[in-house]
Amino acid sequence: MTAELAEFVAQGDLFVLTGAGLSTESGIPDYRKPDGTRRTVPMTFQQFLSGDDARRRYWVRSAVGWERFAAARPNGGHHAVAALQRAGLVQHLVTQNVDGLHAASGADALELHGSLSSVQCVECGSRSDRAEFQGRIRDANPNLPRDVALLADGDAEVARSAQDAFVLVACPHCGSLVVKPDVVMFGESVPTATVEHCYAQLELSRAVLVLGSSLKVMSGFRFVSAALKSGKPVALVGLGSMRGSERADLVLHEPLGATLTATCERLGLQVQTEANATT
Ligand SMILES: NC(=O)c1ccc[n+]([C@@H]2O[C@H](COP(=O)([O-])OP(=O)(O)OC[C@H]3O[C@@H](n4cnc5c(N)ncnc54)[C@H](O)[C@@H]3O)[C@@H](O)[C@H]2O)c1
Ligand SMILES: [Zn+2]
Repeated sequence: MTAELAEFVAQGDLFVLTGAGLSTESGIPDYRKPDGTRRTVPMTFQQFLSGDDARRRYWVRSAVGWERFAAARPNGGHHAVAALQRAGLVQHLVTQNVDGLHAASGADALELHGSLSSVQCVECGSRSDRAEFQGRIRDANPNLPRDVALLADGDAEVARSAQDAFVLVACPHCGSLVVKPDVVMFGESVPTATVEHCYAQLELSRAVLVLGSSLKVMSGFRFVSAALKSGKPVALVGLGSMRGSERADLVLHEPLGATLTATCERLGLQVQTEANATT
């Protein structure tokens, strides 16, 4: 099967869309089980805006999850994608992930849903660094729980009592307590200019390669749908069920790290990992 994927990839001009499945081997859980049902129900932007209680719930869970989320490193799958991009086979790399692991592997990816590495004030619009914001959260909440299970998106399972005791941290510019992660939350839309840019890149691409996404979320699926409509070849690689697979040209249910590394080997591309970068 890797042979078919290598052949697909070797023809280049790829529009590559990546999802949470690419980062599970880095220890960040995905949203959907293999059958496509959700593991957790994320907070919507509308719920987040509904009051301080909702924001305490979001931030206590995120603050606890952040330490492990921020420590995650790219895996073989990210390094292989970076190798494909270095080799000039990728027209456009776009990710639904908010973990920054493409950049950490040296790849240049458009982050469709933003990144958890910064926060944005809903009142004044100013952005600030998440690591610095996390330091202020820790100062205000010295007794945050530790050693809890990490969930998708840097979320974590936290007891109700810890939520109620959580002290919200204000925007450093205007003092508002309505500060959100700098990501497109459920219930929000990807900015129109970003979507249009991606459609233009899709137009310039020969084929679409999806890596580790259930494609349940429309913001990514629309590009696959447009490619299928215009007759561009589509390949889907992921362990679970993937929307559109009955119409795709190639569907592989394989783990991404090993599969993408083997694909690069077949193409004679060197995959640079953190282990071999220093040697
Ligand atoms: N790492 C992150 O930044 C992160 C993590 C979770 C969710 N999210 C957000 O949640 C949404 C989730 O949508 P999605 O489609 O990206 O994710 P998803 O959870 O809906 O789908 C992930 C898919 O990858 C498969 N998978 C898991 N591990 C795999 C592996 N090792 N090899 C191959 N396949 C594997 C799963 O079976 C599943 O089908 C996105 O909008 C994203 O913004 C981001
Ligand atoms: Zn502000």
